[in-house]
Amino acid sequence: MIADDSPMNSPMNSPLTSMINKLPASFSFGVATSSYQIEGNSFGGCGRSHWDEFARQPDKVFNNEDGAIGCDHYHLFETDLDLIADAGFDSYRFSLSWPRLLPERAGGVNPEGIAFYDRLIDGMLARGLTPNATLYHWDLPLYHAAEGGWQARDTASYFADYTDLVMRHFGDRLAMIAPVNEPWCVSFLSHYWGHHAPGLTSISATAKAMHFIQLAHGLSVQVMRSHGHKQIGCVLNKEFGVPADNSDETARLTALFDGIYNRWFEESVFKGRYPDDVLAILAPYMPEKFELDLPIIASPLDWAGVNYYTRSVIAPDKDEPHFGFKCISGNLPKTDMGWEIAPEGLSYFLRRLASRYAPDLPIYVTENGMANSDRLINGRVDDAARTAYFANHLAEICSLTAEGVPVAGYYAWSLLDNFEWAFGYDKRFGLVHVDFKSQKRTPKSSYYYWQAALNP
Ligand code: FCB
Repeated sequence: MIADDSPMNSPMNSPLTSMINKLPASFSFGVATSSYQIEGNSFGGCGRSHWDEFARQPDKVFNNEDGAIGCDHYHLFETDLDLIADAGFDSYRFSLSWPRLLPERAGGVNPEGIAFYDRLIDGMLARGLTPNATLYHWDLPLYHAAEGGWQARDTASYFADYTDLVMRHFGDRLAMIAPVNEPWCVSFLSHYWGHHAPGLTSISATAKAMHFIQLAHGLSVQVMRSHGHKQIGCVLNKEFGVPADNSDETARLTALFDGIYNRWFEESVFKGRYPDDVLAILAPYMPEKFELDLPIIASPLDWAGVNYYTRSVIAPDKDEPHFGFKCISGNLPKTDMGWEIAPEGLSYFLRRLASRYAPDLPIYVTENGMANSDRLINGRVDDAARTAYFANHLAEICSLTAEGVPVAGYYAWSLLDNFEWAFGYDKRFGLVHVDFKSQKRTPKSSYYYWQAALNP
């Protein structure tokens, strides 16, 4: 690992340079963001999402903050696109907001929303940035949430309709596209642990959401394909489970964690089945005839995306009623989120995806990055820890590409400090510091290291 205070950490000799030089010339680099986290949903006729509702409830979101203003990307997107292009990135992974395009239940398409994404996508193209769009990064229209959200089969059908709208207006300008960001977060994190909107803690709701978000993915892929799109992917988040002790029982629970977090989504998308160990627990709560949807969920893809941040240490929990485990704190160095830094987990998942699930597909790391307790001092932010995090994860990717694992690109999370969900604006993931009062952007040292490495 490269230490945070390494003498290599100078923009003239970026710690990222040697990694980037080892990767194939065709390897693509980008940054990622999402609509609710940056746009500001009080602008441009955007409708309300279930995150607005969640943020109003007591003790759900830090300071009850929400995405009303975000980073005011709605007005400042040209500045933000310049930052991406000036750093030398070649792609921008962003998401479209469903409630911005369809703000009301039966109110039709919002022309300001269409115009905004026209400007944004054209702005990318004008700067030579490859648009990589995600259609759902968690901002479910409140009217769909009120009708059952991801527990309702209809939401998946509505998502297919929304996909059609996006394809008709923007499809030919979106070089890469994926329906859903991180279905584990949409389903398990939000319906079992209750950490994200809608904040439920119900096994029945969880089973339904874990199926209908997958169905939404599959239906959306089919709509994209019917429009002739040829770069359709998925974005799955992965977390590496390690057992807290050497017992057989903890090994079993760690495998179950892997099943819920990772295999449920990989197996359904790439093999058209759900893993037996997880299904044994969820079966009583699954929607009727769910099996019939599996071929839709496994509709062929053109690329596979992995979001990776950390690992989890798994310990038995006798009080946990359905799964019997809990995630405990490990002993590796941690980010400001308290997430352990474990780059080898990224290799594990990329290798597994290539060998077991998607042998013929290019793989993109669609998110990777860290929260840091950044301080703006005299107009500068020194986030050497973040640069080291990127370098250590890129080192894993270099070894994999040398082995022949087809990793084709990497997106840093995130361009900007932004609304970090339940943590509000308290946790900073950006390459660029945002003063949320003035909306002033200040590139951090990690931004300059990327810039130095990408512009040799
Ligand atoms: C991922 C999300 C992204 C951001 C990062 C830190 O799970 O996709 O929106 O919150 O975590």
